[in-house]
Amino acid sequence: MGLVQSRYAQSHMDAYRFALFIHVAGTVIVFAGYGALLFSTAVLRLARTAEEARAITRIIAGRRLGFEYVSAIDVIVIVGGAFLVVGGAMMATFTWGWNQPWIQVSVVAVVAIGLAAAFVLGPRLHRIGVALAQAPDGEISQSLRQTDS
Ligand code: HEM
Repeated sequence: MGLVQSRYAQSHMDAYRFALFIHVAGTVIVFAGYGALLFSTAVLRLARTAEEARAITRIIAGRRLGFEYVSAIDVIVIVGGAFLVVGGAMMATFTWGWNQPWIQVSVVAVVAIGLAAAFVLGPRLHRIGVALAQAPDGEISQSLRQTDS
């Protein structure tokens, strides 16, 4: 292998390693975010008063930012998701090609998770946040407890 060729192979390898690092870091960040969401929603079910529940929903249902409600967990998952997609797309484009079935399955899975987050989970958490904001202080009523369950 000539010098130029081996230098190219070396920098290509470095780029691949970088992409793999970004990708796996993104995966870890996304799962940390969704782990936090799972834990917070489990704790939400344990809340006895509207005040307790409102404190928990601040983390999971977010605050208004312009037109959107954005939560700490949204930020973690979106940043991690961007790392995951950018790193995965770099490796798929430069090395593997997009025709690998396992890459296609991954892409469909990532899109499905994104759609479920945007159109199922997000609005549901939002409705719970709104119902809690309007609820009186004190013991959570039966109808409030059943919001969106
Ligand atoms: C846009 C979707 C995705 C694309 C294009 C993609 C692409 C890739 C590529 C090309 C590799 C490198 C494989 C290797 O070097 O052996 C990889 C590794 C990996 N991917 Fe993905 N991926 C995607 C989604 C995901 C998702 C959703 C997860 C986790 C749930 C994930 C977790 C991993 C892990 C843990 C590795 C490291 C495995 C290893 O190196 O042995 N990926 N991915």
